[in-house]
Amino acid sequence: MQAIEVFSSSNNEANLQLNADGSLRHLLTLKGLDRSLLVELLDDAERFVSPSGGAAARSRSLAGRTVANLFFEPSTRTRASFDLAGKRLGADVLNLDVNTSSRKKGESILDTIHTLQAMQVDIMVVRDASVGVPAHIVRHVNDHVSILNAGEGDVSHPTQGLLDLLTIRQRKGKFEDLTVAIVGDIMHSRVARSAAQGLNTLGVGELRLVSPPVLAPDPDEMPFASIIDNLDDGLRDADVVMALRIQRERIGSLDGIPAIDEYFAKYGISTERMQSAAPGAIVMHPGPMNRGIEIESALADSPASAITQQVANGVAVRMAVLERVSRAMDAY
Ligand code: CP
Repeated sequence: MQAIEVFSSSNNEANLQLNADGSLRHLLTLKGLDRSLLVELLDDAERFVSPSGGAAARSRSLAGRTVANLFFEPSTRTRASFDLAGKRLGADVLNLDVNTSSRKKGESILDTIHTLQAMQVDIMVVRDASVGVPAHIVRHVNDHVSILNAGEGDVSHPTQGLLDLLTIRQRKGKFEDLTVAIVGDIMHSRVARSAAQGLNTLGVGELRLVSPPVLAPDPDEMPFASIIDNLDDGLRDADVVMALRIQRERIGSLDGIPAIDEYFAKYGISTERMQSAAPGAIVMHPGPMNRGIEIESALADSPASAITQQVANGVAVRMAVLERVSRAMDAY
């Protein structure tokens, strides 16, 4: 039996994640991180980007540190890239298999965390379906432990946001000149929220959130973005189109949500629908993709697609974040 734990969400995660001198101590959310810190993180990540087919970037900057990956929700990209990022920086990396861990015997998440802390884990990378878990852990670990949010319910996925920003910057240059359309299940998407927060901080020219009305966000939540329900209107002259997966695991009832064929016809991103976007527009997707539902398979594999680049950038971004929190640890 799993212990019942209640986590509260709050708006002060941005403060919790910074040291008094403004350096990054934990990474919980992109909300509240200032422009200069975001740009520094992207610049740091750029140093770890390797040419396709070339040798992976490596350093020993995390030698002597221990990183634990604690994924209480499924993951391929985020977990694998944190694993590789830690190892390529010389850290000891522990991937806890949650399905065979004592969480399955009812151990609380804090007892799991404190157990790993006693084993001198320095950095814990946490993914959980419940909102508030990363901040809750931050409040209960010792000063020398750093917590990185690897996906928190529907609210935050900061390293995904950073890799999306890096990919957009590499492919399209200045954010101020860009129109970005995020398309799909915005309501349940932590990817959309982190990307939107980062794009807003970096001064994106125009941000559109395009979805069926039933999957639209609260209009007050992201007042800097426009909410659009017609795909052609949303894509018109867009420079960047980001397709999202329908987060079925976070949707209580599928009432009102279009069936698969209808969804692709109305909201699927295809080569044909991209004709209304700006010349040279790119298409992105955080993965995992449902080909033929939110994105046409041929488009996902086309030169307009930045999806493989996003995955590669995921390792670089996570190396940059690990290195930065590790450097800040040296001060305490
Ligand atoms: N984009 C993303 O978070 O993918 P995973 O669920 O595979 O980690």
